[in-house]
Amino acid sequence: MHLTDRPRRLRTDGVRPLVSETSLSASDLIAPVFVDATTDERVPIESIPGHERVPVDEAVARVKEIRETGVEAVILFGIPESKDPEGSRAYAADGVVQEATRRITAETDAYVIGDVCLCEYTDHGHCGVVEESAETAPTWTVKNDETLDLLGRTAVSQAEAGADMVAPSAMTDGQVGTIREALDDAGHEDVAIMAYSAKYESAFYGPFRDAADGAPAFGDRRHYQMDPANRREAIREAELDADQGADVLMVKPALPYLDVVSDLRREFDQPIAAYNVSGEYAMLHAAADNGWLDLEAVAHESLLSIKRAGADLILTYFAEDVAERI
Ligand code: PBG
Repeated sequence: MHLTDRPRRLRTDGVRPLVSETSLSASDLIAPVFVDATTDERVPIESIPGHERVPVDEAVARVKEIRETGVEAVILFGIPESKDPEGSRAYAADGVVQEATRRITAETDAYVIGDVCLCEYTDHGHCGVVEESAETAPTWTVKNDETLDLLGRTAVSQAEAGADMVAPSAMTDGQVGTIREALDDAGHEDVAIMAYSAKYESAFYGPFRDAADGAPAFGDRRHYQMDPANRREAIREAELDADQGADVLMVKPALPYLDVVSDLRREFDQPIAAYNVSGEYAMLHAAADNGWLDLEAVAHESLLSIKRAGADLILTYFAEDVAERI
């Protein structure tokens, strides 16, 4: 080390902003919205502090609140009035997400993304069609190819309702290609696909599963979501999705998987999204409630770090809070 090497020269207040490598803007952020067909009033979600399940009648008001903070995009999750083995309310023309999408696109200028999955709509809570088999262990399995058709129908029904983008999150092999073809066949060539490409079987989804009532009734998701131990496999997953026509590639969760965000940034030219999931949000809130962390500071630092790792867009429950302060 030479005493002439002084990186601190560029850390004065005058120059620090000039040499800053990363910045956050409200237009990078996507706010999750939960629309609930089982309630007439807004219900606070205890495990995702500051967020609510809103009835369809409140969906427009909720999205307007988000738009006022400067956030331009929302991703919709639905809690249906009833569930069945095939998750049929996921692809019903009058389903909760479809109804909300129709109203939001008619009455706001928000960019609307539909989450395409079956787990909130199936009575068993899995992301696809379940088949029981006595011979093999486990005694049940989520059938890949039988699920594809239902995901295609879900995406088309959301597009018909006016969704600008669909985001398949079921980790069904071939879902992106199936959805692209179904959308194109229905005349929705302009609807984009954001693939949950590297979606890990993570314990950080706990608060969301309470919020959306989407926890599996038996077993877990480890035979379709990715093993947290795997890094190279994420590139393979993203390659398959890119080949099938994904417009945006997503990594989920975000903070524990920044190596994966960074890998995908290097390997692909497509925009990279990262989902700062419910558990990442809840743990900061819990620590802040105890006086152990400064919530505003750690929220900003979290999102900045996700961008620094290579994400272009971030799905986050902090969207409104952070956008308001930018
Ligand atoms: C549904 C879905 C999940 C999340 C987003 N879409 C839950 C899951 O896969 O169990 C989690 C989001 C979060 O934790 O914030 N397929």
